Amino acid sequence: MLKSGGRRGKYVYLNFSASKEFNVFSSSGKRKLKRWLITYVKHATDMYVGGSDTSSTTLEWAMAELLRNPATMRKAQEDVRRVVDKKSKVEEKDVGQMKYLECVVKETIRLRPPAPLLLPRETISSVKLWGYDIPRKTSVYINAWAIQRDPKIWERPEEFVPVRFESSKVEFKGQYF
Ligand code: HEM
Repeated sequence: MLKSGGRRGKYVYLNFSASKEFNVFSSSGKRKLKRWLITYVKHATDMYVGGSDTSSTTLEWAMAELLRNPATMRKAQEDVRRVVDKKSKVEEKDVGQMKYLECVVKETIRLRPPAPLLLPRETISSVKLWGYDIPRKTSVYINAWAIQRDPKIWERPEEFVPVRFESSKVEFKGQYF
């Protein structure tokens, strides 16, 4: 995914190869270690970038939507204050009780998905779909942005209405189909 991951991996490898400990490896061990390090750093970079940008963008959109919708902002504040009350420290288990805040996050991700086309996919074999012949190795993009604003599925799709998720079983981790 990220080409720069490979370069960073090589950099980590070069630094490590200058150390004394490096000489305990045989030359095939060194080659294996190099491959492993480059792959590891590449995936770690993907995770870091993929996890931080999506989360910060969602947070910024959530704040922007709450500022545009003062009544919704008040409800979210009440939800947080109800759970936190006079506690000085908010713990992870407290967040699970903030049901309205959860709806706010879901509605933010629906209306402002940080990855609107998800991740690119590729067909592994040719397939016929709705009368179309799709050859093997075709790039596939899922337009989540359009699905999440489809007026056939959502009422008032262009509006920020967190309450629509109040009795919904849809959860964050994508385990709901
Ligand atoms: C608001 C926060 C986040 C959103 C909206 C989000 C969204 C997404 C989306 C849409 C995909 C593509 C799914 C697909 O095409 O099937 C994805 C994949 C992925 N995300 Fe996130 N993500 C978020 C946070 C994170 C965090 C915090 C991490 C890691 C610390 C993370 C790690 C990953 C990884 C590793 C994949 C690839 C999974 C795979 O290849 O099957 N994401 N994410």
